[in-house]
Amino acid sequence: MAFPASFIDELVARNRIEDVVGQYVSLKRSGANMFGLCPFHGEKTASFSVSPDKGIYYCFGCHKGGGPINFMMEIEGLSYPDAVRALAKRSGMEVPEDEQYQSRYRHQERLWALMKEAGRFFHKQLYAPAGAQCLGYVQKRGLNKATVTRFGIGFAPNSWNALTDAMRKKGYTDQELRDADLVGEKNGRVYDRFRNRLMFPIFDVRGNVIGFGGRVLDDSKPKYLNSNETLIFNKRKNLFGLNFAKKTKQPNMILVEGNIDVVTLHQYGFDNAVASLGTSLTEEQVALLSRYTEQVVLTYDGDEAGQRAAQRAIPMLEKAGIQVKVLQMKDAKDPDEFLHKFGPDRFKLLLEDSSNRVEYQLNAIRRKYNLNIDDEKIKFVHEAAELICTLDSSVKREVYGGRVAEAAGISMDAMKLEVNKAFKRRIAREKKKQERIDLAPVRALQPKERSIRYDNVKSAVAEEGIIAQILREPVLLEQISELTREQFSVQLFGRVFSLLQQRYKQGQEVSLAVLEDFSPEEISHIAGVMQRQEGPVNEAAFKDCVRIVLAEHQSTGVHTDDDLMALRSKFQERKGTRA
Ligand code: CTP
Ligand code: MN
Repeated sequence: MAFPASFIDELVARNRIEDVVGQYVSLKRSGANMFGLCPFHGEKTASFSVSPDKGIYYCFGCHKGGGPINFMMEIEGLSYPDAVRALAKRSGMEVPEDEQYQSRYRHQERLWALMKEAGRFFHKQLYAPAGAQCLGYVQKRGLNKATVTRFGIGFAPNSWNALTDAMRKKGYTDQELRDADLVGEKNGRVYDRFRNRLMFPIFDVRGNVIGFGGRVLDDSKPKYLNSNETLIFNKRKNLFGLNFAKKTKQPNMILVEGNIDVVTLHQYGFDNAVASLGTSLTEEQVALLSRYTEQVVLTYDGDEAGQRAAQRAIPMLEKAGIQVKVLQMKDAKDPDEFLHKFGPDRFKLLLEDSSNRVEYQLNAIRRKYNLNIDDEKIKFVHEAAELICTLDSSVKREVYGGRVAEAAGISMDAMKLEVNKAFKRRIAREKKKQERIDLAPVRALQPKERSIRYDNVKSAVAEEGIIAQILREPVLLEQISELTREQFSVQLFGRVFSLLQQRYKQGQEVSLAVLEDFSPEEISHIAGVMQRQEGPVNEAAFKDCVRIVLAEHQSTGVHTDDDLMALRSKFQERKGTRA
């Protein structure tokens, strides 16, 4: 283990979970637990819990959980050692640094520095003689010098080694160039990946250059070449322009599709524009957005792909508690084109005019049908009612229902009836879904995390009880000398059990926070198991759990791998004789 156990014990003791989480989430006490809005999946009702007694957090919505170190890893996107460093700093502790960790940390810093240098290099090339054509293109796209400087826009020369040579001169190794995904490789030699392209540096929220998007200067394909995943770049977790947009005074963010749209919008004073990085919007990006704004104006391209992307993004954003508006443009395919054609004042009008998502979705439904045909009119009312019955206020249902009724030429009463029917259908659907879950208790008890399976549910539930109670009252470990790791039916619990037992024997801290060799999913699962266990530790219940595990293990008759092999061959034999 890289950090000494005693150091981690003290670190965890000094960084109380409610204080660490409290820096990011406002928590309200309710009984033994504290609750708040989950910072990881965005939500309107608080399903994120913190248990000061157990020293853990757990979200009943997205099933993330763990101790203070896991929390820092998750919320700041840190590695384990960096999360430890952050907590150490917070509590004024000195970190006993370990060679291996230090080198990984140093590597990361080197990559940040390299990407920044590469960005500077590209930017300079734009004003070099070889960059003349690219500069011309930039001007043709209407970007002024201040914008180019602010966004660090640059030019990758049409050369196989211009960047590589420049970076080597600065002291970067080929391996570092590879790790930053700035080069390709052929026959053991590296070459510049980005050639003859307009370069957009991609910044993280803190302003580090973490990747590049390179656009061709003409109509050739592929239009964009983007950095692939690296140690410092994950495009699912970042948004283009957010490093600037996070400082906006506007109450919302404008979400667009293209890098150029973002840059042009900022140039015209819309300093709240961001774009997802060439991917369709991800859950991570939505969670990130919800940390900076409460309203998003979707401004996707007017083509079919753009509109489909908008329909997909609406529920994702709303689920995260973000209010959604949709801006629609006429006579321009995207904001960039619109601004150049009609200017910022007209765009401002569009922004102010942007409809909320219900209007937008109603319009989309309306366009599908020809209301002069009775049959289609009925389908229109039906589909619109399905949408309206999901609205949570009666005023909204009244207003939008009224519009549909008017469009279809039916009475308001008839419309209300339709909405009621749709509502009943929806409830019935949900009830059925719930029944299916209730009727399949075994499936319902399966962990949400698919890498963890409960093969023997009865034993697994008892094992959950054992692990949860030991983590709260380690002294219980003294009462179960007869239990061994192999007797657990769930391998994860066996591993946790034997590690905790070992630590207890050595007089070390026994808590969830010390389980550092487990994956985030495994830690989350254990936190969930702990959080579902209510009330004080109950010795009798604990002994029952132990009894069940022992009995289940007995009855399956599987004790060792050899037994298992014997059982398998017997089974094979039986199958053989029957066939
Ligand atoms: N994109 C990509 N790869 C492509 C095309 C697009 O990664 N082959 C990503 C880029 O991040 C781009 C965004 O998707 O910014 C939107 O695409 P598009 O609208 O085609 O590009 P723009 O940047 O808007 O460029 P332009 O306005 O010049 O067409
Ligand atoms: Mn575009």
